[in-house]
Amino acid sequence: MPTVTFKYGDQTKSVQGQEGQSLLQIGLDNDIPIEHACGGNGFCTTCLCKVKEGMENLSERNDREESMGISEGEDRLACQANVNGDVTVELEEM
Ligand code: FES
Repeated sequence: MPTVTFKYGDQTKSVQGQEGQSLLQIGLDNDIPIEHACGGNGFCTTCLCKVKEGMENLSERNDREESMGISEGEDRLACQANVNGDVTVELEEM
């Protein structure tokens, strides 16, 4: 079962999710405050996060991310990145 570590503000929280779930879903299931204005449909970028470890354990960037300009570096849309191993992400400051 993948472990996802979320860093936000001055907090760090490690939680477990199911393989294939999105970072957003795992976060919301565990009361992590991830913005998701478009409801997780890849249209708003409010769920943008930085992947600090484990990019290789996320699904490849999809067309939604590419079309929103999320195409390189640490940036991923939490609603579009599905987990298949351990990952550490940093959420945008809110
Ligand atoms: Fe809107 Fe992810 S929740 S892009």
